[in-house]
Amino acid sequence: MRVTVYEVGPRDGLQNESAVVPVEVKREFVARLAEAGLTTIETTSFVHPKWVPQLADAGELLESLPRVPGVRYPVLVPNEKGLDRALKQGVTDIAIFGSATESFARRNLNRTVESQFEMFAPVVERALAHGVRVRAYVSMCFADPWEGPVAPARVAGVGRRLLDLGCHELSLGDTIGVGTPRQVEDLLDAFAEAGVGPERLAVHFHDTYGQALANTLTALRRGITVVDSSAGGIGGCPYARSATGNLATEDLVWMLDGLGVETGVDVRSLAATSLWLAGILGRPSPSRVVQALARELPDRSRPRIQGKRPEEV
Ligand code: HMG
Ligand code: MG
Repeated sequence: MRVTVYEVGPRDGLQNESAVVPVEVKREFVARLAEAGLTTIETTSFVHPKWVPQLADAGELLESLPRVPGVRYPVLVPNEKGLDRALKQGVTDIAIFGSATESFARRNLNRTVESQFEMFAPVVERALAHGVRVRAYVSMCFADPWEGPVAPARVAGVGRRLLDLGCHELSLGDTIGVGTPRQVEDLLDAFAEAGVGPERLAVHFHDTYGQALANTLTALRRGITVVDSSAGGIGGCPYARSATGNLATEDLVWMLDGLGVETGVDVRSLAATSLWLAGILGRPSPSRVVQALARELPDRSRPRIQGKRPEEV
């Protein structure tokens, strides 16, 4: 069995940093992720720069980014303006991002649930006409900070419509990281009832309550083979304050290595990158695997944050 790790650190991770990370650091981060064996790296977003200033350098980053053959570098695109900017940089993969709830649609996209489809439809149509692959996200799959629990059938309804626009894959976002394995089962049942099988789905768990790995295993057992995660577990969403980092890629790969599932990712090389980034961001990685592997590194090569090693801060 093989699982595709869809790395979101440079986008979902860095969009949520209070500091704006210099473009050279982003470039090196993406390059190091590819070196560690990741073959899908969500690199940045062509959203309004005022909405996400951390990724305002999307054009500059892509212009100077060395591409490794066989690696995909998808970017988030909400609307036609974003698509124009992305096409200018020669992107081959984009992702649109919808919401299952009204509150988040308004806060994240300045749209209603219904009007988000009108915004996305021409984006998908034009992207496909340019030979660009389109992934879709559906956010707030289990609960929303303003509306509470979200019914699985409602998520499946929104997700189905996003796929029907022409997207090849739908990533199920637990934006605020509150889902548990039983809810994952219920959601996948709802998608099955809506005619969407695991071959068209990916999972995207934030790890607020430490359930991301258990939720992922549940999804894998149901036949899903694409899993989103972020190196070192960085991440969140600036428009949902309760969101914390994504499932850490190292935690995911460690578990998959143990299960004998291939990913092509070298967990130690990746952890070294997350430690390097933690040193730059000035805070430790929340990933347990990164913290454990950090202790294996020779003392002199371990990065320091204010004189301490990242796992000690
Ligand atoms: P809006 O204000 O409604 O935009 O924002 P508008 O269409 O009314 O346009 C207003 C002005 O913005 C215009 O300029 C446009 O040209 C400009 P003016 O004519 O006034 O000078 N504009 C743009 N400029 C650059 N790039 C663009 C763009 N679009 C419009 N793309 C909009 C609507 C969607 C743009 C805004 O709400 C937005 O940018 N939202 C993005 C928020 C975001 O990035 N959130 C984080 C990502 S989602 C996430 O993290 C969840 C996920 O990880 C899954 C999960 O965890 O669940 C994916
Ligand atoms: Mg996310």
